[in-house]
Amino acid sequence: MLLKSLVLQLGGACLLALSLAAASAPAVAAETKAGAARTAALLVTFGSSHAGAAAGLAQVEADLKAARPELSVRWAYTSEKVRARLAKQGQKVLSPAEALAALRAEGFKRVAVQSLHVIAGAEFHELAAETRAFAAANPGLRVALGRPLIGDNDDLLALTGALLAEAGPPRPGLALVWVGHGSHHPAGLTYPALAWALARAQPNAFLGTVEGKPDFDDVMAGIQAAGLKEARLMPLLTVIGEHSKEDIAGDAADSWKSRLTAAGIAVTPALRAISEIKAVRDIWLGHLGLALKDLEGKPAKAKKH
Ligand code: CO
Repeated sequence: MLLKSLVLQLGGACLLALSLAAASAPAVAAETKAGAARTAALLVTFGSSHAGAAAGLAQVEADLKAARPELSVRWAYTSEKVRARLAKQGQKVLSPAEALAALRAEGFKRVAVQSLHVIAGAEFHELAAETRAFAAANPGLRVALGRPLIGDNDDLLALTGALLAEAGPPRPGLALVWVGHGSHHPAGLTYPALAWALARAQPNAFLGTVEGKPDFDDVMAGIQAAGLKEARLMPLLTVIGEHSKEDIAGDAADSWKSRLTAAGIAVTPALRAISEIKAVRDIWLGHLGLALKDLEGKPAKAKKH
């Protein structure tokens, strides 16, 4: 069976083998506490210190708790900068490694780590490495990692459907423009793939990114070639933060809104984080479900990868 979530077999150490070996580790008994039998879900996102960023994330947690009330849910932010900023405001948010250590200390034996990133880019791969290192050093804790939002072609098409449904029925003359982050990581190729999937489903749908490809000029060229005079601008970002408020819909001359407006296109920004869209949350939580399934499965024999 092809595991859709990555059971930390990404390179070298095979976690399943590790957890099998862990059954006899003496440290395990010492750590058994209340809750040892329970499973935790660790939700991991880049993080944001912007007011309002928490709304969509809270909805992810609420959906998860409604679907899987037996799970203990924890959070970690991958951005050190965001964590430092929040700490200054008196809010302590853990890194993924810190959160895993805390779960181990609480006596959990199984943790499904779910990436709330959009693509399997640098952030996701750092999370995978951090999680893998933790699992190798803590064989008593079984860990599985759920894929980010767009993990494969099925996700790409599901996300396309979710975004177009959210945008509502198409209107002649209106360009639907999503703006994602973009990445110089090889997985940045996910963005042109999503642009293709959107355009295939809806010719007036476009995707651009603030820091990669496709870029503003690519989207502008598409809108002009189609002769569209209106655009709805929507972030393809987990939470609403600086990129949405400044790069996409800000009033400065170099924002997407300003540049489109300067080209004679009537722009309506619709700043809703994708974590606020139920059908998008369902994709992430589907990945978490697969990771949980992997945790419940029998430990496999050690295998060379
Ligand atoms: Co950025």
